[in-house]
Amino acid sequence: TTVEWEAASYDMGGHDTYMHKEIFEQADAVDRVLRGRIDDRFSTVHLGGLNLDAREARQIRRVKILGCGTSYHAGMIGAQMIEELARIPADAEPASEFRYRNAVVDPDTLYIAVSQSGETYDVLAAVQELKRKGARVLGVVNVVGSAIAREADGGIYVHAGPEVCVVSTKCFTNTCVAFALLALHLGRTRDLSVRDGKRIIEGLRRLPAQIAEILEQEEGIQKLSEQFADARSMLFIGRVRGYPVAREASLKLKEVSYIHAEAYPASELKHGPLALIEPALPTVAIVPDDDLLEKNRAAMEEIKARSGQIVAVAHQPQEKADHTIVVPKNEDELDPILMGIPLQLLAYHTAKALGRDIDKPRNLAKSVTVE
Ligand code: AGP
Repeated sequence: TTVEWEAASYDMGGHDTYMHKEIFEQADAVDRVLRGRIDDRFSTVHLGGLNLDAREARQIRRVKILGCGTSYHAGMIGAQMIEELARIPADAEPASEFRYRNAVVDPDTLYIAVSQSGETYDVLAAVQELKRKGARVLGVVNVVGSAIAREADGGIYVHAGPEVCVVSTKCFTNTCVAFALLALHLGRTRDLSVRDGKRIIEGLRRLPAQIAEILEQEEGIQKLSEQFADARSMLFIGRVRGYPVAREASLKLKEVSYIHAEAYPASELKHGPLALIEPALPTVAIVPDDDLLEKNRAAMEEIKARSGQIVAVAHQPQEKADHTIVVPKNEDELDPILMGIPLQLLAYHTAKALGRDIDKPRNLAKSVTVE
């Protein structure tokens, strides 16, 4: 496969690592995934490469999203967006698990393979198995012309540009935005109202400026990271929309800083992990200002009552938290796209404080093209 990206994209542009550069490219990258796709007249989006007409879109009974690592987490967010906006039952599963479990392949299910590189072997093998059984498979892929993009029946390019750091940041964000576009498109061919279509489009347009606003908080986030760099382990919690954000933030921290981290649904705390809470285990809580806010506050209260330290990522300062990283509010359905961004910076600065090899963490490769 040849990858045709301009050499200029590989210039470090004054950043010390590609990870830092790529985190700071996210406002522009999101601009690119939106460009030319919004249709204000019908409050929907055009996705040229989908190869799915309106009649076929209406016949989908279920959506199954497959990916690995960060792409799987973007798929979890995508599944929630598709359920919310298009009211089609949707879920995400690691492609690496799916391909080994002789899954029942259903002709009314739309399968979506997600991959930054488009070359991850577990994802490719899942796509080939699905195709062999006659399923329709779309790709949500960054690298144009990659193996998964070629194998799929159609799809969406996420246009994040080249991602060099082994740890994925801007591609995650753009993949989530690509899923929002797909969810909006499927929603508007089904029962999503013009009004809701407009609301989501306006939300999408606000994203680049809001990302820039979050990145301006780097200094404060750096201080927090230095404070937590000696932690042996960290807990990340979130509920429904916040849960995949917690999963992804936990993976970022693990990969780049080598600090053990675990993500848990906030609702599951009392079913076990509360036993872990003590001052030495900091918790990062994803607390969007939506209809689950009170539930999330109660979870923070449980942690506080056991002397746990809390960093909240929220839309307003949280009384129960020791620190709040305040992020701008978007539409409820789009909030997860923004809430993980400060936690990319948290992972980056923690790794930096610990002197890690940020762009090439030990034991990892950018594309896993083997079994
Ligand atoms: C991301 O930070 C990881 N390095 C890893 O989980 C990655 O997302 C995974 O291997 C999938 O890669 P892909 O998106 O290129 O398929």
